[in-house]
Amino acid sequence: MAEVDLAVDPAVAERVFGDRLPLARRYAEHLVTSGVERGLIGPREAPRIWDRHVLNCAVVAELLPEGARLVDVGSGAGLPGIPLALARPDLQVALVEPLARRVDWLDEVVADLGLDVRVDRGRVEDPAVRRRWEGADVVTARAVAPLHRLAGWALPLLRTGGRLLAVKGASAADEVARDAVAVRRLGGGDAEIVRCGTGTVDPPTTVVVVERVRGTGRPARRDRR
Ligand SMILES: C[S@@+](CC[C@H](N)C(=O)[O-])C[C@H]1O[C@@H](n2cnc3c(N)ncnc32)[C@H](O)[C@@H]1O
Repeated sequence: MAEVDLAVDPAVAERVFGDRLPLARRYAEHLVTSGVERGLIGPREAPRIWDRHVLNCAVVAELLPEGARLVDVGSGAGLPGIPLALARPDLQVALVEPLARRVDWLDEVVADLGLDVRVDRGRVEDPAVRRRWEGADVVTARAVAPLHRLAGWALPLLRTGGRLLAVKGASAADEVARDAVAVRRLGGGDAEIVRCGTGTVDPPTTVVVVERVRGTGRPARRDRR
């Protein structure tokens, strides 16, 4: 494998990860070594692993309430769930991912980093998976599905008032406009586009935020009374 420069501005990385920066460095090393070898990350991503992946995801922590129960849907190589768990030890994080070889890698990396993070193999729309994680405060997803499909998967997992944080690229505004009606029908409020990490990552991370404002047809456990 090509040698990869894992340099990151220590002041920036320390601002995001604090005393867990050594663990974040170790995670970045996993990504560019076994993560690339085992097909979880494309080889072209290795040189930009900090900016485009680790930091880009970790800055979403700005939007997370203290102690939140967070479910990262379609976690792949743990993005954004692992950077968020590293940046914010107060969170309770679960990573949901259907593919066995990705789940195996996630299990190994979470164990190596000593993180208190649950890895759940399954599809998020599977009723058994849904039962395990419903009532969450936050659902995150990056590069998993269009907004209307994500809303259909995430809103039933959230407590009323909980929020879907979908990390998106240039398509964010178009997706919000296109899917507004579907999101409302699914129990979501008006989607908002928020930028995270200004001054830390360039460009800042674009996040589509959707709050669950009412039931989704099948109420979450905490709302079933
Ligand atoms: C393009 S990858 C993105 C991975 C990671 N979120 C990232 O940003 O690098 C999409 C991931 O979503 C997962 N996925 C696809 N459908 C899913 C579903 N129904 N439930 C949970 N995960 C799913 C795939 O297995 C894959 O790991």
